[in-house]
Amino acid sequence: MTPKPKIVCECLKVSEAQVLKAIRTKKIRSIKDIIDYTSAGDGCTCCHPLLREYLEREGSVEDATCPRPSAP
Ligand code: FES
Repeated sequence: MTPKPKIVCECLKVSEAQVLKAIRTKKIRSIKDIIDYTSAGDGCTCCHPLLREYLEREGSVEDATCPRPSAP
């Protein structure tokens, strides 16, 4: 019996493996990119904190919602 894939976005039924593959192969750097490539996060948005966690864990920078403060 094969294990069930871990679903990270319940609204769109997108798995953790699909999101990680997209981040790693498409050089994704924002939640908007994850939505564009996988559809994950394009519903209620409850999974966005988890998607952001994947971006941070994979070393991608969230550029759309966390702009860096400019230097003084
Ligand atoms: S759980 Fe991902 S958009 Fe609702």
